[in-house]
Amino acid sequence: MIPRIYIPGDSGALALGAEKVAKAIASELAERGIEAKIVRNGSRGAYFLEPMVEVATANGRVAYGPVKPSDVKGLFDSGFLTGGHHRRWLGTPDKIPFLAKQTRLTFARCGVTDPLSLESYKKHGGLNGLTNALALTPAAIVAQVTESGLRGRGGAGFPTGIKWKTVLDTVGDRKYIVCNADEGDSGTFADRMIMEGDPFVLIEGMTIAGIATGATKGFVYVRSEYPHAVAVMNKAVEVARKAGVLGASVLGSPYAFDMEIRVGAGAYVCGEETALLDSLEGKRGMVRAKPPLPAHKGLFGKPTVINNVISLASVPVIMDKGAAYYKDFGMGRSRGTIPIQIAGNVKYAGLFEAAFGMTLGEIVDEIGGGTATGRPVKAVQVGGPLGAYFPRTLFDTPFDYEAFAAKDGLIGHAGIVVFDDTADMLKQARFAMEFCAIESCGKCTPCRIGSTRGVETIDKLAAGIEPEKNLALVTDLCNTMKFGSLCALGGFTPYPVMSSITHFPDDFKPAPVRVAAE
Ligand SMILES: Cc1cc2nc3c(=O)[nH]c(=O)nc-3n(C[C@H](O)[C@H](O)[C@H](O)COP(=O)(O)O)c2cc1C
Ligand code: SF4
Repeated sequence: MIPRIYIPGDSGALALGAEKVAKAIASELAERGIEAKIVRNGSRGAYFLEPMVEVATANGRVAYGPVKPSDVKGLFDSGFLTGGHHRRWLGTPDKIPFLAKQTRLTFARCGVTDPLSLESYKKHGGLNGLTNALALTPAAIVAQVTESGLRGRGGAGFPTGIKWKTVLDTVGDRKYIVCNADEGDSGTFADRMIMEGDPFVLIEGMTIAGIATGATKGFVYVRSEYPHAVAVMNKAVEVARKAGVLGASVLGSPYAFDMEIRVGAGAYVCGEETALLDSLEGKRGMVRAKPPLPAHKGLFGKPTVINNVISLASVPVIMDKGAAYYKDFGMGRSRGTIPIQIAGNVKYAGLFEAAFGMTLGEIVDEIGGGTATGRPVKAVQVGGPLGAYFPRTLFDTPFDYEAFAAKDGLIGHAGIVVFDDTADMLKQARFAMEFCAIESCGKCTPCRIGSTRGVETIDKLAAGIEPEKNLALVTDLCNTMKFGSLCALGGFTPYPVMSSITHFPDDFKPAPVRVAAE
């Protein structure tokens, strides 16, 4: 049997040098006259170990990482094709602590399979969910998804089954499934990882959504900053079409479903579902007032399901193993697993899929290993640029939608960004207002004008000008934005601002030093 070498083609791994490693391995193979198959797999998400190269041996896969091109000769000399020891040797990938502690349901195949091989996908349980769904009525599929407790992973945590039922129950000559792959939140990369590492799971999830709701066409709206994901998704759609997974007769059934990949133009607000629909229709992305809900009147005025990549990619495992199996993981009303993306100033950055319920402290200190700088953790922003900053005193908060809301925070798309004690929370609060001012679609006044006034007022605070009055003004502005904005961009910007003021008051005190520095 010719040896198989797995080298991630994932853009995170590429950014860390995977392409150079692949070239070095290919030329070493040629030089030594060894025949081997190189598979460009996805990443398993342990980015601190990327580029992580794996070889398939008689005793299973053996990993090495992080591999540099200069390591390659030594790896061959150490017999890495048969799992030989080397200083980069990591052993069985599944036993690497960061990976061993995870519960991989949605990401079960990511980094394991060849992303564009349907055979490899099927060998690892792919298409079981779709096959099971085809044996059910649309209403029974929707019931399974509802029963699983799956909630939208894009940010709002809305129950997926209820959204699907609304579309199923709405009459329309044409219905659509739109996948939100805009992934604009800071510190998030789960959507990208799955699109690059296991694209068929998203295709399968969207196809199930189509069959369940009566939609025959799907669109994946991917941000332009993800060229690798776009390329992989386009190829995977082609493969799926050729194999009859997509098309006029899904897996030989009476159901038709096909899909296209569309690329956004780079606006954070185009991740908001109605602005996304405008953008997909070829217009400038502006938030639409609701009602009507997209489920009633969405893309081109037709009933539309809009779901995040991870929501849709979680459906195949639910349809494969059953709603009860999925629901068994998690806590409270947060059921199943969530891919937590650990980023920022952290030692072990990466994607960690786990059942809901771990505390923030466990995630940051135990899984993330604390800061990369070795300094104390000061704050953790959870849920992207609109998420609150959590201080260490709130590290006992379990990862659960309701528990985070109770602490004036949000889980969002489950990205967490870690900051050490050098972070200046006044600057972070200013950044939140500035981000909102830049990204605002401009439709409503609290967001469009409020964010600019917010930047100016925080600048006055930084300069030590009338601190009490200006702090009260920022608070008042936040209340206006929170309750008066049309969408969550203006409505949630107060979260990072107010959490900074509440939990880190010292950073907002008049500081003559700060005035001098400005
Ligand atoms: C300003 C803004 C940006 C958003 N960006 C994204 C995004 O990048 N990806 C995403 O899935 N949802 C995003 N959302 C949430 C979507 O509006 C919507 O709730 C989501 O696509 C629904 O899918 P889900 O139910 O599967 O989460 C954003 C919302 C707002 C207000
Ligand atoms: S809150 Fe901001 S982004 Fe949302 S609709 Fe209003 S102006 Fe547009």
